[in-house]
Amino acid sequence: MCWPPPAEHGTLLALHHPPLPLPMLRAAELIELLEQDRLAAVVRGSDVRGILAGHLHFSTYSLFEGVPVSVASASCYTSDPAPVDRFVSGVDGGQSFTMIHAYADRLVHTIVPLVAGPEVSAVGLDIMAAIEGLTVEEAREMASNKTSPFNTQFEDHDR
Ligand SMILES: [Fe+2]
Repeated sequence: MCWPPPAEHGTLLALHHPPLPLPMLRAAELIELLEQDRLAAVVRGSDVRGILAGHLHFSTYSLFEGVPVSVASASCYTSDPAPVDRFVSGVDGGQSFTMIHAYADRLVHTIVPLVAGPEVSAVGLDIMAAIEGLTVEEAREMASNKTSPFNTQFEDHDR
């Protein structure tokens, strides 16, 4: 018998240290999760459908016992995952968090930057009125056709 019983929508396991090997960063093996076999015994055959972690200060993804693992970066400083002339290199840039949308059959992981970069492309909010009432197919045609108002009339508005 499985204990605890499976959750109706499955379980997301959140922990600090990700259960991953980190071959690209020698320093990471000094701080990786120990005794991963013990966690594997718990996750194997369970209702866990996603593992969320942090600790590394960079985003990375893998599988653990067939379960997707998502490692969020950091909001303070990030870590260069492949420093050339440093054992460890903390960087003041690229800070982000990971937004998770849980659907019945999948998880969607979206990295959200915490520091906005310079805008290089935009469509103004007035496009919303233009696509109001269109079917998805019509709106898709409007977005992809180079001569449509989406790509001409509404370009560079609301900057
Ligand atoms: Fe940590």
